[in-house]
Amino acid sequence: MNKQSTITASPLHVSTPHDSAIKQVAGRAEYVDDLPEPEGLLHAYLGLSARAHAEIVSMDLDAVKVAPGVVGVLVGADIPAENDVSSAHKHDEPVLAEKRVSYFGHPMFCVVGTDREAARRAAHLARITYRDLDHVTDIDASLAAGGTLVTEPLTLERGDVAAGLAGAEHRIQGKVRIGGQEHFYLESQIAMAIPGEGEEITIQTSSQHPTEIQVMVAQVLGIPHAAVTVNMRRMGGGFGGKETQGNLFAAIAAVAARKFNRAVKIRPDRDDDFQITGKRHDFLVDYDVGFNSDGKIQGVAASFAARSGYSADLSGPVTDRALFHADNAYWYPAVKVSSLPLFTNTCSNTAFRGFGGPQGLIACERWIEHIAYTLGKDPLEIRKANFYGTDTDNVTPYHQTVEDNIMREIVAELEESSDYQARREKVLAFNRTSKVLKKGIALSPVKFGISFTATWHNQAGALVHVYRDGSIHLSHGGTEMGQGLHIKVAQVVADAFGVPVERVQITASNTGKVPNTSATAASSGTDLNGAAALDAARQIKERMSAHAAIMYEVTPEEVQWEFGGIRCGAQFVPFDELATSCWMNRVQLSASGFYKTPKIHWDRATGTGRPFYYYAYGAAAAEVTIDTLTGEYHVDRADVLEDVGRSLNPAIDIGQVEGGFIQGMGWLTTEELWWDQKGQLRTHAPSTYKIPVAADVPPVFNVKLADWSINKEPAIGRSKAVGEPPLCLAYCVVEALSMAVASVADYKVPPHLDMPVTPERVLMGVERMRRETAA
Ligand code: MTE
Ligand code: HPA
Ligand code: MOS
Repeated sequence: MNKQSTITASPLHVSTPHDSAIKQVAGRAEYVDDLPEPEGLLHAYLGLSARAHAEIVSMDLDAVKVAPGVVGVLVGADIPAENDVSSAHKHDEPVLAEKRVSYFGHPMFCVVGTDREAARRAAHLARITYRDLDHVTDIDASLAAGGTLVTEPLTLERGDVAAGLAGAEHRIQGKVRIGGQEHFYLESQIAMAIPGEGEEITIQTSSQHPTEIQVMVAQVLGIPHAAVTVNMRRMGGGFGGKETQGNLFAAIAAVAARKFNRAVKIRPDRDDDFQITGKRHDFLVDYDVGFNSDGKIQGVAASFAARSGYSADLSGPVTDRALFHADNAYWYPAVKVSSLPLFTNTCSNTAFRGFGGPQGLIACERWIEHIAYTLGKDPLEIRKANFYGTDTDNVTPYHQTVEDNIMREIVAELEESSDYQARREKVLAFNRTSKVLKKGIALSPVKFGISFTATWHNQAGALVHVYRDGSIHLSHGGTEMGQGLHIKVAQVVADAFGVPVERVQITASNTGKVPNTSATAASSGTDLNGAAALDAARQIKERMSAHAAIMYEVTPEEVQWEFGGIRCGAQFVPFDELATSCWMNRVQLSASGFYKTPKIHWDRATGTGRPFYYYAYGAAAAEVTIDTLTGEYHVDRADVLEDVGRSLNPAIDIGQVEGGFIQGMGWLTTEELWWDQKGQLRTHAPSTYKIPVAADVPPVFNVKLADWSINKEPAIGRSKAVGEPPLCLAYCVVEALSMAVASVADYKVPPHLDMPVTPERVLMGVERMRRETAA
């Protein structure tokens, strides 16, 4: 604790390095595959379907069973209790498909061997006879086949939309296609199951949701939750892809571990992970919008069809969230939006940073763009004409009043700091003379609702121990996936006790220490777990204060917490001395904390409530150059301003904003998922699926936090969530590309580029512009 003497102030609201940063660059941060392997560890590998939809007529596994190194093969019938890991509890996600496969890549059997390579090779020796059934792999095919849904759709409605549309001076209709996205976490899915005494089993996993891993393992084994302990130190990225998609791997490892009574590890190859696990939902949005000549929207009707895959998974809440963001930052006098979570014979699409929100608000930005091109104005003008008001015109399609609106301030600051207006003039001038190269610029806003929309998920627990040397052990229900949750919660605890953050020992997430946790998701990890940890710290501090008052013979009011210790009248007692004294006097120095988000409620049946505790705001501007002969382009500059309230850790928050923006840019520009006619995903490796790399970061990339913003709600330290909202900011890149394309037809034709806006789509857009102006 020598460091304590040099640090004299609270670490809260201070840029503090990520606790794993040095370990990660030094290769010392441990992931599941780095853990020491238990004696006799077996390795599992999955056998996958080679059909998108078929009956399994027969599975001949004889060659698999006798292959070298193989210990056994599991099929659906080997699952002791329920052959299901559906997070939606719809019983539509078998661990191993039994009679029928529903997508190309559907796991059907599991080979268990003495080494991973043996199991992996043997998995290819199975002889499967299928009877093919019709399959639908995309939104259009699913709609054409009748539009089967995987879960109940939602409609949000306010005002008289028919009258709003009919009474408007202008009316536009259109479709926007928004692509899916592979999570591409650096660490693939993985699990290791270690059988214990009796029914006990321990799971080492890479999951955003250890409790759900626990519940699913208990469900497949038919044992109580209490018999399962899940340990989760850190993920090599999750991005939503490890909210539910780890269930299958943990379940199969647990079943194999139980069957062979040995530890079992499973880690799919990248290609298999790509094929098996769900992705961001792609959407087809159909819209009908009425507006007046001043650009003011009068009515919006839209349907949001999403490729959900073969099972419900999180498609219900994801498509709900798309609707919750179909207003982005704008007031609609009348609105009706509905969701279509469509069944398809593809992997089961799932959570991905933004959770449907980005797709909802991008559709909205698309009709803003359409209005602008119709009226011959800058889309930014249309945006400003429609922003939510602060006292009026501030009710959302789900009947929540926007109480914390700072959209105008954010946009005004960014417009100024990015020199948007002058640069737009320059872009227009450039396009007038440049023949081959064309430029575009756009500034787009984001308003993002913070809280899980399913109210009961908005709870968290923590366990804090103070040891008698004054060091602190911290566990909470959240998980670390690189986002910096652990360091932020440690800062909160260090601030509460008035000690340097180094005194707080960060530990793995463990279901035995903090039970019944929610997924670390919806960007609410710090809000929820930070507050739970603070609650635990408060309880311990109360006991320490009461003890100090007696010990140092002062009144309770005279006990003051300061950085480094407590002041009792004239006397200052360092924190570690106080901890020792508490222990000597039998004062309990451990507490579990709890938090539930106040104010929120949501009635899905009526589509009304206050699903969000508060909103996070942001805006971004991008400038691009396209080559009209090849479709190639560059993002020349991006400026970002994000509202994180009073930042708990500006360095971490900036990292989240930068990463979110670039990940969003990759999604909207280069990352394209492509299934062939057989329903096989053919873009299943970095060779065919292009994620952004360091060289794709714009050469000018100005990222700022709105340092004047304070959360109106008393969220932890008056901060705001940061994990997901910045991903949506990347939309400005699409709109800038659209402007460059539209310049070819003198901005008279709405560009309507589908996403991802790959160079091919830019080129096709340019050619469409040429055709339409020639006609
Ligand atoms: N940042 C990193 N480095 N890695 C991740 O996997 N996931 C994102 C975001 N930022 C992610 C990330 C997603 S999808 C969410 S919901 C939040 O982090 C979750 O963490 P938080 O609630 O602590 O912000
Ligand atoms: N966001 C993210 N993950 C979730 C949500 C949500 O609203 N609901 C359930 N899982
Ligand atoms: Mo994030 S998509 O809510 O895991």
